[in-house]
Amino acid sequence: MLTNVLIIEDEARMREVMIMLLSDMQIKIFEAANGEEAIEIFDNQNIHLVITDLKLPKRGGMEVLKHIKQSRPEVPVVIVTAFGSIDNAVTAIREGAFDYVTKPFKEERLQSCVKKALQISTLTYEVKHLRQEIEGKYNFNNIVGDSPEMCEILRMAGEVSKTDTTVLITGESGTGKELLSRATHINSSRSKGPFLPVNCAAIPASLLEAELFGYERGAFTGAQQRKKGKFEIASGGTLFLDEIGDMELDVQAKFLRVLESQEFERLGGDKSIQADVRIITATNKDLEKMVADKSFREDLYYRVSVFPIRIPPLRERRDDIPLLSHHFINEFSRAFGRKAPVLSDKVMEMLINHPWKGNIRELRNVLERAMILSKGDRITRRHVVLNETHEKPFSTMNIDQIVSLLIQDYRVGLEEIETKCIKFALESSNHNVSRAARMLGLSRATLRYRLEKMGM
Ligand SMILES: Nc1ncnc2c1ncn2[C@@H]1O[C@H](COP(=O)(O)OP(=O)(O)OP(=O)(O)O)[C@@H](O)[C@H]1O
Ligand SMILES: [Mg+2]
Repeated sequence: MLTNVLIIEDEARMREVMIMLLSDMQIKIFEAANGEEAIEIFDNQNIHLVITDLKLPKRGGMEVLKHIKQSRPEVPVVIVTAFGSIDNAVTAIREGAFDYVTKPFKEERLQSCVKKALQISTLTYEVKHLRQEIEGKYNFNNIVGDSPEMCEILRMAGEVSKTDTTVLITGESGTGKELLSRATHINSSRSKGPFLPVNCAAIPASLLEAELFGYERGAFTGAQQRKKGKFEIASGGTLFLDEIGDMELDVQAKFLRVLESQEFERLGGDKSIQADVRIITATNKDLEKMVADKSFREDLYYRVSVFPIRIPPLRERRDDIPLLSHHFINEFSRAFGRKAPVLSDKVMEMLINHPWKGNIRELRNVLERAMILSKGDRITRRHVVLNETHEKPFSTMNIDQIVSLLIQDYRVGLEEIETKCIKFALESSNHNVSRAARMLGLSRATLRYRLEKMGM
């Protein structure tokens, strides 16, 4: 990245010296001889760093500094000031200047100051861009769906995102629970804080407590150093407890305590720590049923389900399938750098009617595969492999399931099935026609007749 540096200095000779001193750096230099010119350049060029004198004709350095801090506060400003006017430099720092250099300066002083400011500027720029990228990716706009169910969900999530209320998102695997919880965070007043997901099912029960609450040195064998838990790390942000239905009963009890008192202790510690987190939980289990059979605490259930949002499975909101399909096709086209192919009507019909056990994740995978298989500008039936039945091992399928697999998924026609059956029987009987006929449940004559018809 080439960095744009603006040097503001009314003395031409001084400007030249500065430009010369910075000539080894990978930067592009803009010059201004007075405050007005400087602001003009700053507003029209993408300046990453400003070096300015304080005493300037037509709007002084202080005014330029204020302008910069108001319009783009992330741009660092280095003040160059005459020896003896340090007071002004201090005021400038208070107004947001990054650092100051007094004249006459040693070349290294100016260079190191500029280097440091550029590093900061690059980092700030990167953070800002990453944040924008994340916010764009996880915004409500990117949650696709125009079914009445989905519109209602987005409306509710939009409302609750403005509050600190605990949210419970339920829904089958792959319905978008994590996506929705990220969007809720990004649209909340905590968006500048962390969004921290913890998968309660992936962490062994014995470790989950330490993971959530942290521990003091010596709290248990192996605890060689104090460690912060997720509740502390997520401070100021949102803690997303995924698969909450998999949390063991004793961890549930501790978690309930935090929800009730907004406080917790690290394992092996006695100091209470304030929990400043918003909690969003998610599960694909039926918590009410778990409460009924005592595997989930009833009191905790009421605490976490203050604001429940249920995302229905895709098969209950088939209206969303066309929009989602186009969304994913566009996403993959961008990623693969090619023109978005058209989905044939037949394919769209298949997608709409498929049972979608894996929900949106499954739809996304099916379309990714279809994009890879279809190299042209159309996705047709033969590019789309719907593998609902593959989840079962072949040996456990009944004949109807096998037929459905052959006809729907593999798209084999009747003639092809017949040819394949006959070939199979012949090969496994060492081309003994009588034996092959017996395997197929046909008379020898009928098999001969069919073989002739097939030209075999
Ligand atoms: N409405 C939607 N619009 C666009 N993409 C979606 C939508 N819902 C889900 N997705 C995508 O589907 C995939 C699965 O979503 P996500 O991980 O949020 O599901 P989940 O409910 O948390 O699943 P699991 O229970 O398996 O953890 C992700 O790639 C996500 O981006
Ligand atoms: Mg998830």
